[in-house]
Amino acid sequence: MNMRDIIIAKRDKQSLTDEQIKFFVQGVTDGSIPDYQTSALLMAIVLNGMDEHEMTTLTLEMAASGKQLTLPYIEGISVDKHSTGGVGDKVTPILLPLIASFGVEVVKLSGRGLGFTGGTVDKFESIEGFNVEVDTKDFHMYVIQTGMVISGQTPDLAPADKILYALRDVTGTVDSIPLIASSIMSKKIAAGAQGIVLDVTCGSGAFMKDFDMAKELAEAMIKIGKLAGRQVVAVITNMDEPLGRFCGNVLEMQEVFNTVTGKGESDVIEVVTELAYHLIKIAQKDAGMSEEVLKNEIRARLSDGTVYEKYKQLIESQGGKLNAAGSPVYVSKPFDCMHVNSPDAGYVQSIKTDLIGQASVLLGAGRLAKTDKIDYGAGIGFFVKVGDRVERGDSLCALYTGEDSQLPEDKLYDAMDLILDAYEIGPNPPEKKPAILGVIT
Ligand code: URA
Repeated sequence: MNMRDIIIAKRDKQSLTDEQIKFFVQGVTDGSIPDYQTSALLMAIVLNGMDEHEMTTLTLEMAASGKQLTLPYIEGISVDKHSTGGVGDKVTPILLPLIASFGVEVVKLSGRGLGFTGGTVDKFESIEGFNVEVDTKDFHMYVIQTGMVISGQTPDLAPADKILYALRDVTGTVDSIPLIASSIMSKKIAAGAQGIVLDVTCGSGAFMKDFDMAKELAEAMIKIGKLAGRQVVAVITNMDEPLGRFCGNVLEMQEVFNTVTGKGESDVIEVVTELAYHLIKIAQKDAGMSEEVLKNEIRARLSDGTVYEKYKQLIESQGGKLNAAGSPVYVSKPFDCMHVNSPDAGYVQSIKTDLIGQASVLLGAGRLAKTDKIDYGAGIGFFVKVGDRVERGDSLCALYTGEDSQLPEDKLYDAMDLILDAYEIGPNPPEKKPAILGVIT
């Protein structure tokens, strides 16, 4: 077997055999296949696709390229959640204590932000003292203590994906349903959970720009999960505007605190409720409640202090600091340094969410390269969202930097320009998309 023949087979639109895929993944992992051949095959996959069987084999081989967790200390059915990424996506820090309050134990491995989508690990790191580098051998201790643990992705989990993703990033081969689906599912399968709930974001601030693409990705991941013996549900959520009122690390964690203390934004509550519902059902901790009763119970727990108590446990167990009033202490204080005002009167028609993400990165909230340092206090607050009425001169957004930021003024103005490009104002009220666009089981 050799790589040249495998590349030619995919170039000529043939299905790759299990042996060919295995040869490829093993060669990527042990470094025996040069990057130029790997890149050529990736491009052939982007152009000619993969069938379900190939996708599943690729996923399982990538999952098997490193350590695979089994989570024996989780009582009952283990579950996991994954989002395909977005702007203002603060769901995980709310979801973990919420489902833990129903007795759903969870080990959550999360990534750092790269490009315009934020990373959950960075968000937790904006709490003073919070340790996200948990050794896998200590997971059971946290699960016994609080029912949950959050940690950065360990380097030995699906290493083939890490190598492939880095190459895809620089060879224009990220946008491919088989490659995205296998990348995500290999990490989920290696992380060990039996049930997986996927938040497939859809819109200008997501990988999948329209509903049909998001559905295709969701269906591909569900099929892979099923063939790999996992139960998978996908919730397609709207990313044609940022989720909630803030993006940026401390700003989002402040919004998380508001949500777990009963003051959440309706779109955040809606997404969290839908995802929690499926996770609790899959884990069989729903106590026979109907969908309506369970969703009402979820919402009630966000406002009656139940989730807040679990949230405090999560933070304290991983070394995070709380002040005397029970609120997290953050590593940076956001400073409201500029408001972007509406040039016109009318209704917000749309918000190009990728531009909002880019503006947030310019302010320092995200990274363009893995080694970039982030400003935890930086980000954006949204005074108005799609469907809201504005008058000329009203504030659309507030731009924040950390209190000690040395951000050059020209970057602040570049961020302002991006926001003015992002907001489309028109004369009539637009049709507002719901936060949940579909559920695929
Ligand atoms: N997230 C991943 O983990 N992999 C992809 O390919 C895209 C998004």
